[in-house]
Amino acid sequence: MSSLPSLLSDRIFGVTGIDPELRPATKPQFGHYQTNVALRLAKSEGQSPREVATRIVARLEVADLCEPPEIAGPGFINFRLRTEVLAEAITDQLADPRSGMSSTQQPQTVVIDYSAPNVAKQMHVGHLRSTVIGDCLHRVLAGVGHHVIAQNHIGDWGTQFGMLVEQILDEGVEASALTLPEAEALYARGSAHFRSDADFAERARRRVVALQSGDEQTRTIWQQLINVSLAGFNAAYERLGVLLTDDDLDGESTYNDDLPQLVDTLEADGTAVIDDGALCVFVDGFTAPMIVRKRDGGFGYAATDLAAIRRRVRDFGADRIVYVVDSRQSDHFEQVFLVARKAGLLPDAVATEHVAFGTVLGLDGRPFKTREGTAVTLYDLLDAAEEEAAPPIALAAIKYADLSNGLNKDYVFDVHRMVQTTGNTGPYLQYAHARMTQVLRKAEAEGYGEQTKVMVLEEPAEQALALLLTRFGDVVDEVAETLQPHKLCAYLYDLSGALAIFYEQCPVLKAEGIVRESRLAMCAVTKRVLATGLTLLGIEALERM
Ligand code: ARG
Repeated sequence: MSSLPSLLSDRIFGVTGIDPELRPATKPQFGHYQTNVALRLAKSEGQSPREVATRIVARLEVADLCEPPEIAGPGFINFRLRTEVLAEAITDQLADPRSGMSSTQQPQTVVIDYSAPNVAKQMHVGHLRSTVIGDCLHRVLAGVGHHVIAQNHIGDWGTQFGMLVEQILDEGVEASALTLPEAEALYARGSAHFRSDADFAERARRRVVALQSGDEQTRTIWQQLINVSLAGFNAAYERLGVLLTDDDLDGESTYNDDLPQLVDTLEADGTAVIDDGALCVFVDGFTAPMIVRKRDGGFGYAATDLAAIRRRVRDFGADRIVYVVDSRQSDHFEQVFLVARKAGLLPDAVATEHVAFGTVLGLDGRPFKTREGTAVTLYDLLDAAEEEAAPPIALAAIKYADLSNGLNKDYVFDVHRMVQTTGNTGPYLQYAHARMTQVLRKAEAEGYGEQTKVMVLEEPAEQALALLLTRFGDVVDEVAETLQPHKLCAYLYDLSGALAIFYEQCPVLKAEGIVRESRLAMCAVTKRVLATGLTLLGIEALERM
């Protein structure tokens, strides 16, 4: 099903030969859609924009869709869809099992790298944001028909494991019996021990070598640490209601065997050079080179990311690779992408995007900390929200707060505001959905079924709501393309606002005949668009609140 704006867009393109870049009108008096195509063409055509606009309008055949187009200001062309056309679109949307969400004509294989917590550490706020944003992008991209491969690139390798294993042996604890918070406490004790005791530090270093060379006892304890951590991560994923499963795990350690060969190739073809004992790739514009092999022979975070790109391109056939990681790693990813291109691991046809997000701030405007001054865990946030609202509402509040701001911005974790059912919040959207559910339930009890064929949309509030409903598919497409969930949030918020006005100005259950049928159909489509939209955000569309 093609959306009304894309139909209109195609017609304009037929006359102008360039993309009209149709935009929703900014004010109701400008109609429903606007294009500045005449302004863009004026120069090359040697005419004033208004003259060009006049010519375009004269040749444009859109009478079946719109009122006669109007030329405004310096040469904008404004379109107002005909009411019957809008009504028909809503009838179609009611019959459409996808509620107007489109299916892509060009399905891609998209790898999304998200969540990626570290073993023996609890998920902190950054991992929570990555998990929530990644889950939304996963749902949106899969929803429009792409093949999504989720990748949980957990931090399950590195020199810290020498220290961890050595501390476990020192304390004589049974690693498999630890909980994740206990493993984290052990991590802290191990780090302190490492700093204060030179003998322990030396043993920890030897333990790294034992781990790397596959010493059985060391590997067993390492694996136990992973298992207790995964149990903790999975409990968190379950509480969050996200799509990630163990099948999506491809931790750093899974690249170990790839690294020596990969790095050798970089050295052999001259991409990487030895500098001060370390193997480095120098990239223009960066103050520091990328270190692919450290002086001690170990490989690091960056080398692993190169191997991950290779696997994703070569083995998974990725067309697009998306990294949902906090913005402090922007330089890292920029460098990794450049090096991967330079090394021939990343063909031009494969897009890589770092979806960077900002920090969660406390009410004091500083990075959010617990009362004890430690980093806030996922559970602290959820517990705080659940003090104010029931679990599915608290979760909606947190997720929506994470998704509704421009991702790059830091945002203030104001739990009291986030759980309100008024204002731009997740619970407000849930409430709009629950309200429509109630209305339809009442109507159904009185015999209403979704069988409306002809609709009437006479009231401005009905038309405004209908116009928004027809935009749903385009908004989802835009999020799939730009990876900006806040656009879907803003849309659903606007939709809920238009719904509230409609509901206030147009009696539904008290109306009669075809008007009642039409308004119930509007309620039904709105409910479904809200439900689909909320589900894409990873938020539960509650039936009652
Ligand atoms: N484990 C890392 C961290 O906590 C994030 C990994 C992100 N993904 C990646 N491919 N580097 O910072």
